[in-house]
Amino acid sequence: MKRTEALAILSRDHHQALFVAHRLRRATAETVREERRRFLDFWLRDGRRHFRLEEELLLPAYAVHGDAHHPLVLQVLGDHVAIRAQADQLARAPDPNPDRLHDLGATLSEHVRLEERQLFAVIEAAIPADELLDLAHALERTERSDELDESRFMIQESLHHGRPEGPPRPVRRDRG
Ligand SMILES: [Fe+2]
Ligand SMILES: [Fe+2]
Repeated sequence: MKRTEALAILSRDHHQALFVAHRLRRATAETVREERRRFLDFWLRDGRRHFRLEEELLLPAYAVHGDAHHPLVLQVLGDHVAIRAQADQLARAPDPNPDRLHDLGATLSEHVRLEERQLFAVIEAAIPADELLDLAHALERTERSDELDESRFMIQESLHHGRPEGPPRPVRRDRG
């Protein structure tokens, strides 16, 4: 199936992530420092931003139409937490055991494949074409700027057909 424009933006990042993951998995005692550096450069420059695009734009856009607790959504979010934790540990270890890089490389490549092979198909089936286009524009805008939060607001606005909602209502909790 042809990727929609919105998801093609994220797929471009995935190619880069798979390359970095491949290098991590092949790290040896000789290359461990170089591959650690390569991963951290990727992570700080592009990886974290990509995760935020998915967490703050892509998955909420899906949840307007689909189940926010879909097993794939939960799996993807759990992967993000695990990869963030492993990246943080790697940043604190200047001379890590290569096993640590192999584990991270495996987690990262499995995560990307899950999104490409399963999650994206579910999202493309759930979100109407015009909203996918809005999502593509929001992702593009955000890639070019640091204003992730503003961009999220704008996609939410357009998802509600240009009618901005009022301030959020307090959550009602039934007692007893
Ligand atoms: Fe992801
Ligand atoms: Fe991704």
